[in-house]
Amino acid sequence: MELDGKVALVTGAGSGIGRATAQRLAAEGMRVCGIDLDTDAARAVVEPLGGLALGADVSDPAQVDAVFAECAGTLGSVDLAFLNAGIAIGVADITELGDAEYRRIMGPNVDGVIFGARAAVRQMRTQGGGVIVATASLAGLIAFSPDPVYTATKHAVVGFIRSIAPTVRADGITAHAVCPGLTDTNILGPDTKDALRDAGFPLMGPEQIADAVVTAARAPESATGTCWVCQPGREPTPYVFHDVPGPRTEGAAGKVPPSLRDDEPGIFTR
Ligand SMILES: NC(=O)c1ccc[n+]([C@@H]2O[C@H](COP(=O)([O-])OP(=O)(O)OC[C@H]3O[C@@H](n4cnc5c(N)ncnc54)[C@H](O)[C@@H]3O)[C@@H](O)[C@H]2O)c1
Repeated sequence: MELDGKVALVTGAGSGIGRATAQRLAAEGMRVCGIDLDTDAARAVVEPLGGLALGADVSDPAQVDAVFAECAGTLGSVDLAFLNAGIAIGVADITELGDAEYRRIMGPNVDGVIFGARAAVRQMRTQGGGVIVATASLAGLIAFSPDPVYTATKHAVVGFIRSIAPTVRADGITAHAVCPGLTDTNILGPDTKDALRDAGFPLMGPEQIADAVVTAARAPESATGTCWVCQPGREPTPYVFHDVPGPRTEGAAGKVPPSLRDDEPGIFTR
């Protein structure tokens, strides 16, 4: 999609990856609607860009619908929805997970992406298309033992985005995920950052993830469903998923059901 002159809605715009992406999209000529739980933080980022800042909790479907409506009503459309707001909890020992803490992370990380995508598709259908990009994580592709519930939420984002992509394509809508490795933002907290630096672990700047969002938004329609891996010093890289073994039935060796074949879209896709 050509970005110049179009409208981007960015969740979690008040900090880190959302802030860097809002700034980058504005530099690409987009009008930006920045959403954050912290309204003042969203304002501080978006107002200097001449955009629209709105306070909302992305885990609340009514608030999500309201900000999409306000963005479309005020700026004219939502051409790019960057569903990025999220938190980590850092509970490695699952016996220490509190019920409220579990609900707290599911809200922005899973509900926020699903409610956001639903609102985006409803709006984009009225416009004839658009691009959805959700922030997953490397923890959406690999196991990450320091925060297994966070990892579960990011696997959910990867599976969700890949699963809606074929359905919404008919409406001219593409859906992508960005999967960053460790990035220098507030989500890590000062102690974690210090420990990573002491261990010589490279952190990416959030601008690198903004670059992946732009790459996804500009990718051809055929790239829909891509999960873009972001790692220090690398260009955004499409993750290649492996096939799963198909059913093995007596006397049917070599026959692969159509839904599992590489060359045909089916119920199950890679
Ligand atoms: N920083 C990393 O290492 C890293 C790596 C992979 C993925 N991510 C993902 O990137 C995304 C952005 O995080 P970040 O690293 O920029 O962290 P951050 O803490 O700097 O920014 C997150 C922003 O989201 C907002 N937010 C949180 N809950 C919200 C809610 N319910 N409704 C609206 N806004 C809410 C916060 O107020 C904050 O401004 C998250 O989804 C995170 O999981 C981060």
